[in-house]
Amino acid sequence: MIVTLKIFRFNPEVDKKWHYETYKLEALETDRVLDLLEKVKGYQDGTLSFRRSCAHGVCGSDALRINGRNQLACKALVRDVGTTITVEPLLGLKVIKDLIVDMEPFFANYKAVLPYFVNESPLPADGKERQQSPEQRARFDETTKCILCAACTTSCPSFWGSDTYFGPAAFVTAHRFIFDSRDEAASERLHILSETSGVARCHTVYNCTMACPREIQITKAIGELKLAMVTGKLD
Ligand code: SF4
Ligand code: FES
Repeated sequence: MIVTLKIFRFNPEVDKKWHYETYKLEALETDRVLDLLEKVKGYQDGTLSFRRSCAHGVCGSDALRINGRNQLACKALVRDVGTTITVEPLLGLKVIKDLIVDMEPFFANYKAVLPYFVNESPLPADGKERQQSPEQRARFDETTKCILCAACTTSCPSFWGSDTYFGPAAFVTAHRFIFDSRDEAASERLHILSETSGVARCHTVYNCTMACPREIQITKAIGELKLAMVTGKLD
C-alpha cells in the first residue's frame, strides 16, 4: 500500500517558521511509524531529524504526536493509524529541530520529586537486604513501569499552560517511591508535591492515562498521592 506521511519540519538554522512536508512511500500494514520515518530519512530526505533508540517500546525516546495523539512511533502500526499519517513533535516543549523537542524542562520536573530511593537507616543486623512483603511491593508495582517517554506530561493541558508544572510523569515517579515501604523520604516528597507546581494543578483530565504506552493508571496514581497528602496515610 501507499502511505502519505505529513511531517512537521523546522530547522532553526534556516527556517523562520515551521511547516509541513509530505512524503509518499510504500508500506505494509504491519510497518510501524518509526519504520516509515527511517525510510523517509534513509531514502527521501536525510535532513529529517527525530529521536529513537531501542525501537521496541523500552527506551521512551520516540514519543511523538501521531494523528494528534501522543504515541511511541515504534509501537504505532500503519494498520492502526491509517494510510494518511500526520507526525508532529510533542506539545509544550520547545522544538529543537523537526520532531526533536527540548526535554530539559521535563527532566527538571522529574528531578524535583527526588526520583531515587532514600533510606539512611543501617541495614538489618543479619546483613540481609531490606525486606518487603509481596503486598507491599504490589503497592507501587504499576508506577515502576514508567519509561519516561513524556507522552503523558505533554498531553496535559496544565503542562501546556506552564512547563514548571511537575506533570504526570513526575507524579508517577513520586508515587513509585512514596509508596515503597522501604523508602524514608515520603513526607519530603509529599511536601514537594503540595507546592504550587504540584498535584493540586491536576484537573483530572485523563489525557495522561490515555496517552501512556505502558498503560499505567496515572490519574488513579495521582489520586492516591492527593489522598496521601490529605490523610498522611500511605497504605
Ligand atoms: Fe511515558 Fe507512561 Fe511514564 Fe508518562 S507514565 S512518561 S506516558 S511511560
Ligand atoms: Fe525506544 Fe520507541 S525507540 S521506545
